[in-house]
Amino acid sequence: MHITNLQYVKRYRMELDMRRWKRPAIKLPTNYRLAAWDPSLIPAHAEVKYLSFREEIDAQVFPCLGNLDGCQRLMSEIEAKDGFLPQATWLAEYVGARPAKTEYCGTIQAVRMHRNKASIQNIGVAPHHRGRGIGTALILAALLGFQYLAIRRACLEVTAENDGAVRLYRRLGFRTVRTLYKTVELACDATAR
Ligand SMILES: CC(C)(COP(=O)(O)OP(=O)(O)OC[C@H]1O[C@@H](n2cnc3c(N)ncnc32)[C@H](O)[C@@H]1OP(=O)(O)O)[C@@H](O)C(=O)NCCC(=O)NCCS
Repeated sequence: MHITNLQYVKRYRMELDMRRWKRPAIKLPTNYRLAAWDPSLIPAHAEVKYLSFREEIDAQVFPCLGNLDGCQRLMSEIEAKDGFLPQATWLAEYVGARPAKTEYCGTIQAVRMHRNKASIQNIGVAPHHRGRGIGTALILAALLGFQYLAIRRACLEVTAENDGAVRLYRRLGFRTVRTLYKTVELACDATAR
C-alpha cells in the first residue's frame, strides 16, 4: 500500500493598498545596485532564487525552489505569463570593491493578476547579503513599478512560519487578508521523486 505523507502549511495572503502608499526613498548600502529587467538576466534571477531559497521552508513548500533547474524553469514560466511586469522585476547586484566583479544577490518579480491588482513573486536575497536593506529596496522598487502602472493593490503570499519575511512585509504596509492552507508532501517524500 502506498502511503503519502502530507502536511498542511499555513500561508498568508497579504495586500497593500497602493492608493494610500507613501512612496519612500529607496536606500541601498554602498556597493549595491538594482538592475532593471532584461531577458538575458533570466539565468541570474534563477541562480539568486536558488541561492536564496534552497535552505528555506519555501523549498519544501515549493520543491522547484530547492534546485537550480527548477528555479530556471520557474523564471522562464514567470517571464512567459501574459501579466509579467518587467517594470516591477529587479535584480540586486553587489559590485564589491572592484566593479568588474559583480555578484548577483537579490531578485524580485511581479505579475499582473487583474487590471488593478498585481502580485509580487518569490523575493529572495542570498543569505550573506541579508539584513542590509536589500529585500526592502527590492520590494520598494517593485511597488514603484506598480505605482507607475497605476496598479491599485499589491498582493503576495507568504508561509506563516517565515517570520522574517512576514515582519518585512508588515513593516512595508502589507496586511493579511486571508489565511490559506497548502497541502505539501514531507521533505523525505520529496527526495524520492
Ligand atoms: C525575506 C528576505 C527577502 C529579506 O531580505 P533582506 O535583504 O534580509 O531584507 P532587509 O534587510 O530589507 O530586512 C530584513 C531585516 O534587516 C533590517 N535592515 C534593513 N535595513 C538594514 C540595514 N541597512 N542594516 C541592517 N539591518 C537592516 C530590517 O529592519 C529587517 O529587520 P526585521 O527582521 O526586524 O524586519 C530574505 O530573508 C530571504 O531571501 N529569505 C529567504 C527567501 C524567502 O523566504 N523569501 C520570502 C518568500 S515569501
